[in-house]
Amino acid sequence: MRKLVYYIASTLDGFIAGPDGADPSGPGGFWPIPGDYLRHLAGEYPETLPGPARDALSITAEGTHFDTVVEGRKSYEIGLAAGIPDAFPHLRHLVFSTTLTEAPAPAVELVAGDPVAKVRELKQEDGKDIWLVGGGELAGALYTEIDRLIIKLGPLTIGTGIPLFGRTAAFDPRIWNLTDHTVLDSGAAFLTYTRS
Ligand SMILES: NC(=O)c1ccc[n+]([C@@H]2O[C@H](COP(=O)([O-])OP(=O)(O)OC[C@H]3O[C@@H](n4cnc5c(N)ncnc54)[C@H](OP(=O)(O)O)[C@@H]3O)[C@@H](O)[C@H]2O)c1
Repeated sequence: MRKLVYYIASTLDGFIAGPDGADPSGPGGFWPIPGDYLRHLAGEYPETLPGPARDALSITAEGTHFDTVVEGRKSYEIGLAAGIPDAFPHLRHLVFSTTLTEAPAPAVELVAGDPVAKVRELKQEDGKDIWLVGGGELAGALYTEIDRLIIKLGPLTIGTGIPLFGRTAAFDPRIWNLTDHTVLDSGAAFLTYTRS
């Protein structure tokens, strides 16, 4: 059965974004994107780069991990505000929202219902794994459904911000097995953990 994978960039202190909810790796963002990091993303996870970045880097590879991406409305709206209504046209793209009433791009599927029920349904379908892009609030809602974590650990701390599982996640300790890791010269580490 296909897996739900939370593939996410985190600071050393467990934040995925600053307190303002902006894109930390976008223009003017504080997240370092060194050359070896970008090369690793492009080589190993080409499907996770947004369409415009893939075009700029002439990437056409399908990727081997994911064919579906699920994201929360606030994360989705960052691309929308930048004039990109579907950042992942090469993937099936679902956005969870109870407030958006019309999908801004024809291929984007809005889901107003329970994310857990929808993800369980997706897991029953054939295909590659499902990428949970974030943000923290949606990841908190899907916490019990996550089969694998791929943490792109950045060599930075920020003190406060949006935590990996959002600001309202319940206390629910889980143990994860480290199943893969890559450490880059620039200081970022890609850590893959599978639910034990
Ligand atoms: N570091 C990274 O790799 C990474 C990746 C992605 C995003 N981010 C960052 O994450 C931040 C946004 O995260 P966030 O936690 O504020 O918001 P988010 O999870 O992206 O979106 C929250 C919204 O998703 C919908 N949603 C969440 N849980 C739901 C549920 N149980 N049922 C139905 N809809 C649900 C709701 O939309 P409605 O209000 O419309 O109902 C909710 O307001 C941004 O700063 C972004 O840059 C970072």
